[in-house]
Amino acid sequence: MARQSGNQRFNESGLPIEPVYGPDALEDWDAGTKLGEPGAYPYTRGVYPTMYTGRPWTMRQYAGFGTATESNARYKQLIENGTMGLSVAFDLPTQMGHDSDAPLAHGEVGKVGVAIDSVDDMRVLFGGIPLEDVSTSMTINAPAALLLLLYQLVAEEQGADPAKLTGTIQNDVLKEYIARGTYIFPPKPSLRLIADIFKYCRAEIPKWNTISISGYHMAEAGATPAQEIAFTLADGIEYVRTAVAAGMSVDDFAPRLSFFFVARTTLLEEVAKFRAARRIWARVMREEFGAQNPKSLMLRFHTQTAGVQLTAQQPEVNLARVTVQALGAVLGGTQSLHTNSYDEAIALPTDKSARLALRTQQVLAYETDVTATVDPFAGSYVVESMTDDVEAAAVALMEQVEDRGGAVNAIEQGFQKEEIERSAYAIARETDSGERVVVGVNRFQREEDEPYEPLRVDPAIERQQCDRLARLRAERDQAAVDGALAELRKAAEGTDNVLYPMKEALRARATVGEVCNTLREIWGAYVPTDSF
Ligand code: 3HC
Repeated sequence: MARQSGNQRFNESGLPIEPVYGPDALEDWDAGTKLGEPGAYPYTRGVYPTMYTGRPWTMRQYAGFGTATESNARYKQLIENGTMGLSVAFDLPTQMGHDSDAPLAHGEVGKVGVAIDSVDDMRVLFGGIPLEDVSTSMTINAPAALLLLLYQLVAEEQGADPAKLTGTIQNDVLKEYIARGTYIFPPKPSLRLIADIFKYCRAEIPKWNTISISGYHMAEAGATPAQEIAFTLADGIEYVRTAVAAGMSVDDFAPRLSFFFVARTTLLEEVAKFRAARRIWARVMREEFGAQNPKSLMLRFHTQTAGVQLTAQQPEVNLARVTVQALGAVLGGTQSLHTNSYDEAIALPTDKSARLALRTQQVLAYETDVTATVDPFAGSYVVESMTDDVEAAAVALMEQVEDRGGAVNAIEQGFQKEEIERSAYAIARETDSGERVVVGVNRFQREEDEPYEPLRVDPAIERQQCDRLARLRAERDQAAVDGALAELRKAAEGTDNVLYPMKEALRARATVGEVCNTLREIWGAYVPTDSF
């Protein structure tokens, strides 16, 4: 929503929106340098020459809850309904590297995602799903290495060739320190682990996207579009510097970096945001890091529609919001898309609402004409001006991060967090005053006609999962587990790549919690330095 001050309206990034844009808006604008061709530097128009004209974006619905059995059933249902890629949601104990029977896990097992404690659970999660034939995203950060290795172990049991596995691990711990909170280790060992993953994937799983550098969660915490891309790309720069410092050549790993952004309801600015992000990243990779491989310059990204803009009031109205948000992501050139279910402001999506969310994408892909041509907004007075404006605002913020010594130093100074909280406060104030209209919440309210029946996760799930863990510990070869964990400890204390001993420990049925506790003993746990 464009905010108003007098006759002037401003977009979400706080940049002025003119009531009319004309040729003078693009007076100094040069299509050769600003726009280029689709699939060519600076990629403003998209990373592929043909974009959706040959193949629509990947419809990749984020899903997971309960035990592996429940989630496996949901994935099979999504595949049946036409989803083109899997996207695994893990419960908080898994995301934080704790076993389901750890005291800290009580009450969270299987709640916001699926509980995965061991290779046994991973085997159930993907039972009947040929991993060589699907692309799977896993929203896992601090313990990303473990879940990737569990995925590879199960794929190898199916007879899959690891070199053919495709998918993504989010693996972006820096944004966890800023906005999401599922970190485990301090920044230094976290970045070492991420570099180990980059090296391991280049050697063992070369088609795997090693990281999904995310702006989504910062946006959900209140970041403006300019802040979202600025802080995300600054995190990306930190990861590239880390991998180069670990001895990798930029073209060895950069083609497998990927990104993840939000799509807000303010469609025009969102399209401009995506186009600006591609142009900035291409320039940074070429000019700062000297990348030669064109794939190193391409900002390929996944988008999720803005969960924070869904309302619990009149939830069906969210269908309209999600449609507009999804359209913005598509017009902005996303490679992969998750559309939120209309009931997600209330509870986990039901089968029906999850299907409806996917159908929304299918209508955009197969009933509209937005896939018939590449980057339809190219040359638009408004969108090209907004792309320039958002780019300039984002670059200025990236310079402020750089002035503080880069993303990690800025995080430790609380810079990104403070900037985002300031934006979040402004949004809350504008909503409370009614300046920012939220249909059904501060305007056009009505009494709810029929009660909504949410999907509830059965609390017995936790008991079942803990019983599974007890059986696993009783059955496994404990000496093999202890030996493998000792090897992992040695690698963590030294400089060897920890993923190799980690894989053997997981193969021996060591649990997620045991592996992460072994690393906690060596690397410690991150304690946030809230500066205020
Ligand atoms: N021309 C030529 N080739 C094309 C093409 C075109 N028009 N379209 C696609 N292709 C090719 C690509 O080159 C690719 O081949 P390659 O891997 O050999 O290069 C293949 O077809 C697949 O295309 P993409 O890579 O574009 O699409 P994917 O869907 O496979 O990958 C991605 C997209 C963004 C690169 C990847 O990283 C991805 O899938 N990310 C998903 C991340 C995700 O789902 N995150 C969920 C987060 S939820 C969360 O955080 C929790 C909550 O709090 C929100």
